[in-house]
Amino acid sequence: MTAARSRRCLQAAVLLWAALSPWALALAAAAVPAKLKAAPAPVATGPMSKVEDATMFRIYYGQSFKVIKNSGDGKSYLLMQNTSKMASKTRYCTGRIKSFVIPLANFSIDTTTSPVSFFELLGVIESLKGITSNQVASQCVLQSYTSGNAQLVNRTDAQTLSQFTAHFISDTDEDRGCNFAAYVPLEEDAPLQRAEWIKYLGTFTNSEGRANTVYDAIKTNYLCLSKAAANLSTRFKPIVAWIEFTQGMWTFVKESYTLQYVTDAGAETVDATITNKRFNSSDPEDMDNFHAILCTVDVVIDQTYALEPAEYKLATFLENINVSQDSCYSFVSNRSIWRLDKRIGASGTLDWYDGAISQPQLVLGDLIEVFFPTGNYTTIYFRNLAKEEGVTEIGPEMCARSISTPMEPIILPCE
Ligand SMILES: *[C@@H]1O[C@H](CO)[C@@H](O)[C@H](O)[C@H]1NC(C)=O
Ligand SMILES: *[C@@H]1O[C@H](CO)[C@@H](O)[C@H](O)[C@H]1NC(C)=O
Ligand SMILES: *[C@@H]1O[C@H](CO)[C@@H](O)[C@H](O)[C@H]1NC(C)=O
Ligand SMILES: *[C@@H]1O[C@H](CO)[C@@H](O)[C@H](O)[C@H]1NC(C)=O
Ligand SMILES: *[C@@H]1O[C@H](CO)[C@@H](O)[C@H](O)[C@H]1NC(C)=O
Ligand SMILES: *[C@@H]1O[C@H](CO)[C@@H](O)[C@H](O)[C@H]1NC(C)=O
Ligand SMILES: *[C@@H]1O[C@H](CO)[C@@H](O)[C@H](O)[C@H]1NC(C)=O
Ligand SMILES: *[C@@H]1O[C@H](CO)[C@@H](O)[C@H](O)[C@H]1NC(C)=O
Repeated sequence: MTAARSRRCLQAAVLLWAALSPWALALAAAAVPAKLKAAPAPVATGPMSKVEDATMFRIYYGQSFKVIKNSGDGKSYLLMQNTSKMASKTRYCTGRIKSFVIPLANFSIDTTTSPVSFFELLGVIESLKGITSNQVASQCVLQSYTSGNAQLVNRTDAQTLSQFTAHFISDTDEDRGCNFAAYVPLEEDAPLQRAEWIKYLGTFTNSEGRANTVYDAIKTNYLCLSKAAANLSTRFKPIVAWIEFTQGMWTFVKESYTLQYVTDAGAETVDATITNKRFNSSDPEDMDNFHAILCTVDVVIDQTYALEPAEYKLATFLENINVSQDSCYSFVSNRSIWRLDKRIGASGTLDWYDGAISQPQLVLGDLIEVFFPTGNYTTIYFRNLAKEEGVTEIGPEMCARSISTPMEPIILPCE
């Protein structure tokens, strides 16, 4: 690349960045001339990531830096290659912009609220040196903790957390330091959009190539499964009640991504006009109404929170909905009552909020089996309460790879 061309690229990138964020204009005006005079040190530009499905972040590439705009926390992250001049001179930590030197030498994660599986798929767990809780639903992160590679750190102690090059959080209200970086896959509306956050995290470790490969494989598999499910549903489209019981009230789970999963797996949820209602379990009239709706469904997914998932059994469910085992509901006679807490870590942390976010094809595969049972597929996240299926507890001894090796996504058979 000629000097002139590289200059144009750099300028274009800076202008693009400036166009996106008014605040950057002043910054760009001040920074660009100096940078153009000193020919930037050549930086190996590896593969780039481009957002296809996610709606809450965008990535822009410059010559020796990247900018990610995160609409979850409203911040821009300026990632400067450690070999660049900029990296040794520039630091931003304002309400709108933060800078990081990449590839990150090490990092920590607020594991009480944030998924670690994205980092496992990227293959960067060896650099994960701090976790805020060891109740993680990941065998290899537990293994890393048990072997001393990662240490437990106090999640509210910004001073201690500042020893890490970056501290990743997914609760944006918890931002307490210049090294805090937010990722918010849970705020996206659809399963693939959530999974694409691997690209966001990949930029911090120059793992774009890996992030692209993993996301492409997952997306291709997801779309293939979804197509197969659409075919299955031409004969019969099961009706699903995805419900939860909280503080004495039964409600329908209405998060967009759950509805998307049901549709993509070839089924249908209870009508939206009905799902807005709430049903008081101590009010017989409410329960009559609830039972009438349940009479029309084929499958129940019970997302009720359980302090101890292993103790949540068929009897618990039947008691909560006040029906007996010999009732005529088709989901009872057809034994189709499911929970999404099959894989749990210590203290009942659900892998549903971790591994299932980064590998939505596995959730889809499970749901297709739930809706169109073959008996020839072992579900990963869903367990059938009606068949008294139990939970799987995740422990460090289950980690079957070296922590320096990336976790491979599981690609389900699909023609
Ligand atoms: C930049 O990061 C790479 C990869 O971690 C490392 O090998 C290298 O020493 C770093 N270079 C500088 C100048 O910090
Ligand atoms: C993380 O990397 C930085 C920069 O290389 C270093 O100063 C710091 O000691 C490292 N922290 C841990 C916990 O390894
Ligand atoms: C964690 O850090 C906060 C703030 O520094 C402190 O108040 C709290 O006592 C610490 N908690 C533990 C368990 O050490
Ligand atoms: C759809 O189902 C029919 C049989 O029900 C089968 O012959 C056909 O191959 C299926 N198509 C796809 C794309 O799976
Ligand atoms: C549920 O119904 C009972 C009995 O009618 C009532 O005491 C209770 O306040 C209701 N709960 C809610 C959350 O409305
Ligand atoms: C629970 O079921 C029993 C037996 O069908 C019924 O008598 C009772 O009223 C129900 N309770 C509620 C709160 O619906
Ligand atoms: C119950 O299961 C059978 C066999 O899987 C199926 O043919 C039937 O349609 C199911 N009934 C309902 C109401 O879902
Ligand atoms: C079960 O699944 C395997 C692997 O997908 C397949 O080879 C086999 O034919 C299936 N068996 C039945 C009975 O569907």
